[in-house]
Formats: sequence, C-alpha cells, structure tokens
Amino acid sequence: MVRVTIVGGAGRVGRAIVEELGRQGKHEVILWTRRDPCKHQIPGVKTIQVTDYRHENLVSLLNGTHTVLAFFNPMSDPGSRNQIALIDASVAAGVKRLAPSEWAGKVRSGIKMYDMKEPVLDHLENLNKDKKVIEWGLFQPGLLMDYLAHPCPPSKHFDTFPLFFDLENARAIFVEDGLRPVVFTASEDVAKVVARAIDSPEPWTTDGGIVGHRTTFKEIVQIAEKITGQTFTIYNLKSEDLEKGEFRSPWIPSYAPNLPEETIKNVVVPFISGWALGCYNGVADVSPAWNERFPDIQYQTVADMLRAAWGRLQAQRASQA
Ligand SMILES: NC(=O)c1ccc[n+]([C@@H]2O[C@H](COP(=O)([O-])OP(=O)(O)OC[C@H]3O[C@@H](n4cnc5c(N)ncnc54)[C@H](OP(=O)(O)O)[C@@H]3O)[C@@H](O)[C@H]2O)c1
Repeated sequence: MVRVTIVGGAGRVGRAIVEELGRQGKHEVILWTRRDPCKHQIPGVKTIQVTDYRHENLVSLLNGTHTVLAFFNPMSDPGSRNQIALIDASVAAGVKRLAPSEWAGKVRSGIKMYDMKEPVLDHLENLNKDKKVIEWGLFQPGLLMDYLAHPCPPSKHFDTFPLFFDLENARAIFVEDGLRPVVFTASEDVAKVVARAIDSPEPWTTDGGIVGHRTTFKEIVQIAEKITGQTFTIYNLKSEDLEKGEFRSPWIPSYAPNLPEETIKNVVVPFISGWALGCYNGVADVSPAWNERFPDIQYQTVADMLRAAWGRLQAQRASQA
C-alpha cells in the first residue's frame, strides 16, 4: 500500500480515477480540493481542503506521499502556477511518481489547443535534466468517450456537452469527410489503466497513449444510426475555414446552454474550432502505449457507450412523458 495524493480529482475527469482507486482499496487515497471537503466525500478516499499553495505548506502536506496525480484545469490555473508549485513541492517532499494534468490528446504535436500544457512538461524535463529527481509519466486517452453519451453520461459527476456529436438531437459535425482517425476512451477505462500503473513497479512512460476505441466521426454516426434507428443530420466543415477562425455550421456545439451571443462568438467558437481542427490534425490519435503495457484490460467501444446512453435517454424521456 502506498499513499496516492490526487489534486483536482473532485472535478470532471479525475473523479472516475479517484472513485476507482477508492473502490479498489489497495492504497491510501488522499483527495485535495479547494472547496468544501464535506461535499466531495468518496468511499475509500480521504478528502482534504487545500487552498494554500505556498511551497512549505505543500511540502508538509505531501510528506509520505508516493504518487501524485494532478487534474488541474489549465484554464483555471493561469501559467500553471499551482501545478508547477505542486511539482516542485513533490520533488522536495520525496514523492516517487507524478502524473501532470494531461488526460487528453498529444501535447507538442504542433497543435495550438494544448499549448498551455507544454510549460509543465518543460518544467518536468528540466528538473530531471542532470539527475532524475522524480519519475513522471503521462496518461493521454484522446477524447473522453463519456462526451458521446451526452446528455446521459455514465456518471453524473462528468459534466458533458455534445462535442461534435449530439445523440439526443441526431446531428454531428464532420471536418471534411469525417474520416480522420480519432481515439475515444471511457473515463472508467482510463481509471483502470491508472490503477494498474500505480500498482506496477515498472517506470511510467511519457509516451502516454491509451486507446479505448480508435474510430472516426463518420463511423460513430453509423454506429449511432444503427443503435437508435435515427438518421443523423451532418454539418460538414472545411479545414481551411477553421484555420481562418470561421466555424460555418448552423449548429455550434456549446459547453453550456443559453450563452450570450458575444460569448458564443468570442469564446465558444474559438474553443470549438480549435478542437475540430485539432481532431482533424490528429491530436486525439494517440498511440496504444499503455494498452501494450497492460494487454489484458478490456476497453469499452463506442457501441457499448452509445447503447447504454441511448437506454438512459429513452428511460429519461419515458419518465418525463
Ligand atoms: N480528454 C478529454 O476529452 C478531456 C476533457 C476534459 C478535460 N480534459 C483534461 O483533463 C484535465 C482536468 O480537466 P477537468 O475538465 O477535469 O477540469 P475541471 O473539472 O474544470 O477541474 C479539475 C479540478 O482542478 C482543480 N483546479 C482548477 N484550477 C485550480 C487551481 N488554480 N489550483 C488548484 N486546483 C485547481 C479544481 O479542483 P477544486 O475546485 O476541487 O479545488 C477542479 O475541480 C485537464 O488537463 C484537461 O485538459 C480532457
């Protein structure tokens, strides 16, 4: 048994991992949140409130920790200040292993959308430049498959939105012909991989791909049509328009309903265009590095995710009728 400290794991992506580690009960799992810890009680997990990110405080809190997992949202950690403070304190406290807040697609792929993650990787590389002071590894599952299940994701804690694919309204967005490969992995499967990685004595890899299901948006729609019997409306975007910052679609997938026009134009469109272009350029086409390490792990397919989500959606509609 080792102590695993999980920072930001009460949020969207980290929650499945925290729950899996708590459920397995093999390790002492400590969850840090800046919010009221009473509201984030998870079986098998000790939740503590941490708001003071000064070095000495973090070092004293991390003493005795073997592994640190970070789930900071880079949008709400300007300059990755708190994440870098966590890394420096981990080194000072003698933490053995650390996973920075990746949990997405390829970083350093020349694709803008993950630029803000690069300084954290630079920092980790610099720390180990002359002598290895901490072991670190990456977990990159591509896009989380839970988004395909919107508005009925497997967990109520995973706050989804229709990311180019809208099961409820039978519509999807393709960049060009929708045939570029993209990896989707269920957050529950990411949790299984991380749990195995924590148990494994083998050094963690910085080639952090996890492949749940390598597919295309066109294939996802074909699967959905078969499961639901609906015919999907497709909006085709041109990559050259996206490069110019233009999102020429009557449907603009938004991460929140009823946003003001201004916010759609200045925030949602650049955000969603970056994702569309990133996926088209292969940012989510990660390698199966962790699959090769733990070949017995079974992954959910898109059909599994959609079948279950469609069942929940039908039940929800029936209960509202
Ligand atoms: N692959 C995908 O499809 C996908 C989708 C979404 C996100 N991601 C990645 O997953 C990671 C986590 O994203 P998320 O959506 O789970 O984020 P989130 O729910 O918005 O935030 C995660 C947690 O980070 C903590 N946090 C945020 N800013 C912080 C700060 N300045 N200092 C300390 N703690 C802070 C918060 O914890 P407390 O408020 O509890 O303190 C928050 O609950 C990111 O790296 C993101 O890029 C990947």
